[in-house]
Amino acid sequence: MANFKDVIKGIFREGSEEDDYVLPLDESGRLIRPMGTVRAVEHSFKTHDRSGGAQSDPDAVLPDKLPLDDESRALLEIADAVRGKAYAKYSGFRVGAALVGASGQVYLGVNIENASYPAGICAERSAICAAVSAGETAFSAIAIVGGENGEPCFPCGICRQVLSEFCGPDFPVILTDGVYSLGGLLPHSFSL
Ligand code: THU
Repeated sequence: MANFKDVIKGIFREGSEEDDYVLPLDESGRLIRPMGTVRAVEHSFKTHDRSGGAQSDPDAVLPDKLPLDDESRALLEIADAVRGKAYAKYSGFRVGAALVGASGQVYLGVNIENASYPAGICAERSAICAAVSAGETAFSAIAIVGGENGEPCFPCGICRQVLSEFCGPDFPVILTDGVYSLGGLLPHSFSL
């Protein structure tokens, strides 16, 4: 995976090695702001903002998926990097999500499980919680990496619905095998 430094500027330290991410880690490798941001990045993803209550176009014809480009791969790398912070004590299935806000901030999320199983939360919604808590409700793309075998980790139905609260049907959902659209993954989402 080449050219990340050129594609998303600011993720890597100046003059750093390819895999030296600027994640907010302390000396023992813990995320200082586990649910926080990486930092503002330049990106070319379109902004989605449904905070005014915009509705989906029910007739929109959306492609199943588009091929990964360098920018999408860069975001997947970030999702994969934060995945190691998942608290997946019960399933062992670690998921990381990297959500790009309209401001360029990248919000991180991991799955956080609980002894009371339904109390657990998915990585995608963790990232949404971090973003909305920081005051950001318009987004440009999300990358999701889960499991150990590189297979695409599709967001669960609840996460698709939560994303659809903020993002339109052509919102890019970046998985390891391509870029899907939110509307393709969740046609006819519920709205009030
Ligand atoms: N999980 C996510 O975090 N995101 C997904 O897209 C699918 C599932 C988590 C929930 C649970 O902690 C674990 O994966 C196994 O279901």
